[in-house]
Amino acid sequence: MDIPKDIFTEQDADPDTLAHLGPLRRLAGTWEGKRGIDINPKENGPERRDYYERIVMEPIDAQSNGPQLLYGLRYHIHINTPEEEIAFHDQAGYWLWEPDTGLIMQTLSIPRGQTALAGGKATADATTLVVEAKRGATDYGICSTEFLEQAFRTDSYRLEVTFHDDGTWSYVSDTTLIVRGAPFLHKDRNHLTKIAEPDLNPWLKLKRSQAGGAAS
Ligand code: HEM
Repeated sequence: MDIPKDIFTEQDADPDTLAHLGPLRRLAGTWEGKRGIDINPKENGPERRDYYERIVMEPIDAQSNGPQLLYGLRYHIHINTPEEEIAFHDQAGYWLWEPDTGLIMQTLSIPRGQTALAGGKATADATTLVVEAKRGATDYGICSTEFLEQAFRTDSYRLEVTFHDDGTWSYVSDTTLIVRGAPFLHKDRNHLTKIAEPDLNPWLKLKRSQAGGAAS
């Protein structure tokens, strides 16, 4: 990658994040999916579980890494099964979009002691998004706690999101683990329907309240 000579000067950001999310605009809001399917590793082989899911994705203020300008969403995923009240899977992070280059990123934080940064490229009108992370990579990589590193080594993560014409979207996630020396494909899929529109990002809210205050 070519780094510009000036790594400090920032671009002018727009306060309205929702207007600059490119392909991520279609992910903004609160979502529910009732027909998730998970394949996870168990002592006697793969276990298949049905799950239901709620995802909240809210716009954040624009972020600058020097000249690199990013717009994004902060997300939280909460998954349950019909059989148990305890969370089956919990995950939080950010979806980020760099309009200048078409870079998309998803950060993952999973409370089993695991974190990842997955990356990909997309156009603003993309109907499919793919992000990937690999263990050992220092850019789009995966970090796990020592126990997971030895017992359930996570070698790769790939997420494919498909946007549908009716405003819903679906995903398939492929996480390759090494369990007792053998590869195990930990797979998840679901279809999400919007149940609430996103809020405004904090900077835009402030701007609008200041403009309202000045007018009154
Ligand atoms: C919808 C998404 C996901 C669901 C519903 C889910 C669910 C599960 C379940 C039920 C287990 C078995 C837990 C146990 O038996 O103790 C598991 C194991 C595991 N998952 Fe996921 N998972 C998801 C996504 C991911 C992702 C994205 C990653 C990593 C990038 C990941 C990494 C792991 C690892 C390393 C294990 C093995 C640890 C263990 O079994 O104790 N999972 N997952």
